[in-house]
Amino acid sequence: MKFQLPPETAEVVALRAEVLARPLPAHVAIIMDGNGRWAEERGEPRLFGHREGSNSVRATTRFARRLGIKYLTLYAFSAQNWNRPIDEVLGLMQLLVEYLDLERDEIMDEEIVLQAIGELDRMPPPVLDRLNAMKEMSKNNPGMKLTLALSYGGREELVRAARLIAEDVKAGRLAIDDVSEDAMRARLWTSQIPDPDVVIRTSGEVRLSNFLLYQSAYAEIVAAEAAWPDFRERELLLAVREFQGRERRFGQTSAQLRVAKGAAAGVQAKAAT
Ligand code: FPP
Repeated sequence: MKFQLPPETAEVVALRAEVLARPLPAHVAIIMDGNGRWAEERGEPRLFGHREGSNSVRATTRFARRLGIKYLTLYAFSAQNWNRPIDEVLGLMQLLVEYLDLERDEIMDEEIVLQAIGELDRMPPPVLDRLNAMKEMSKNNPGMKLTLALSYGGREELVRAARLIAEDVKAGRLAIDDVSEDAMRARLWTSQIPDPDVVIRTSGEVRLSNFLLYQSAYAEIVAAEAAWPDFRERELLLAVREFQGRERRFGQTSAQLRVAKGAAAGVQAKAAT
């Protein structure tokens, strides 16, 4: 069953035109926060918020893909979320099962590649089996790479990578002098995905909460006021516009960046003559 998108407003049309006139982030990562509070404010159980949140996942995936985002990574379940009340954990697992069943056609129609990162062997078989089937089915699609972070933790990922490096050194497959950023990256769950350009966190909080700790070194962090169940195209566009207004210096000064930009523009102008 296709998820029905809401009708477009004039504000969204104008925002989209504004955002499309500037370079887009290649990789958008989202910490989907505020489901529980959203539900509690309405006198509903927390799972009601997660259910609405899964509709935001479906809608945001479609908006991001249509906007031209190449990589979308969603923090769907952290390694620490296992410590939540058992009913909430089971409810979230059930929502994941439903999501994977409902989105199969949409993912294939939109030519999306579905991937997952995290301690996937901890996911219950009904989730893991569907996930593996969807990964296999979508792996040759040419479109946006959608990555679900499941039982994911940045510290857990770094400890795992350190252990893999230690094993390779011990076995003589890697020299200590070759322990480098590249060697580290190759052992992260995200080895096939570029670093995020922007990490959006909904519900007004500004915290990474163990998400993509290594990969977010130079990501812009954008706090979106909306709770995740209220996140739609307008909120995505506002966050991307905020990203586009930031100056990314990667350790350089503003003056250095201006010189580099001028030089690049000069090369382009010369090539055009
Ligand atoms: C954080 O909100 C959200 C989560 C822990 C789970 C996110 C899950 C979904 C969006 C739905 C299922 C996922 C997919 C991919 C279908 P919170 O509960 O911590 O909110 P709170 O801070 O208001 O309590």
